[in-house]
Amino acid sequence: MAYYALVPAAGTGLRMEQTTPKQYLPLAGQPLIWHALRALCSSTVIDRVFVVLAAEDAYWPDQAMANLGPRLHLLRCGGRTRAQSVLNGLRGMALMLGDIAEDWVLVHDAARPCLSGALLEKLVSNVGEDAVGGLLAVPVADTLKRAGALPGKPDDAANRSIGTVPREGLWQAQTPQMFRHGLLLQALSQIDNSRDNTPGNAPTVTDEASAVEALGLAPRLVASSMSNIKVTYPSDLQLAETILNDFQR
Ligand code: C5P
Repeated sequence: MAYYALVPAAGTGLRMEQTTPKQYLPLAGQPLIWHALRALCSSTVIDRVFVVLAAEDAYWPDQAMANLGPRLHLLRCGGRTRAQSVLNGLRGMALMLGDIAEDWVLVHDAARPCLSGALLEKLVSNVGEDAVGGLLAVPVADTLKRAGALPGKPDDAANRSIGTVPREGLWQAQTPQMFRHGLLLQALSQIDNSRDNTPGNAPTVTDEASAVEALGLAPRLVASSMSNIKVTYPSDLQLAETILNDFQR
């Protein structure tokens, strides 16, 4: 049984408001993506690490990545959405490795630089025997508000709270998300030609677990840590650097 990591890194990171794609912004002296790849490449539980880049990516820094070792492989087959990038990556892995349907794939965001070895091992040991697969996640701690407009008052709908969503039983999904190659390929293939492919539509499948849920299956939730943050907004870079510094103490 092999364990592979797949890192989709073909996004542009519009919410960072920078011309350089988010995954290449500097963080603690390295490109942001380097930190996620280092965590995966240095893990003893992962056999190979695949990165999905946009075909036209001109930012990948060969030199900075050289110290990550021979288990790292590039696939230049990114898609229009994250789900398409992952699906293309799964197909690229099978072309290279042959029949890997029963092997595990851990999909991890390029933009989650603070993944610890302990969390990675916790995920693998909790999910390695599961029939479906699973993901790192944290129970929601904050009170959740629904934005909208009251009848007859359509102004400012994006910034008005019209209800409170009960947080009981809600979890915030993180990555890695871990599924067998064959099952994930099947799950993502089913949404490949749906509305997510239509330009202008926001993607409805924003993680692997939601594609697997659409098959009627229930992935296992593995309690994670808030330190495994995703860098989305400019202020997240400072927080990520603080967490990485803490790891080194
Ligand atoms: O934009 P967001 O932070 O949700 O992206 C999550 C991950 O998916 C990032 O690592 C990003 O590079 C990747 N992605 C991708 N292909 C896309 C869109 C996002 O590989 N078309």
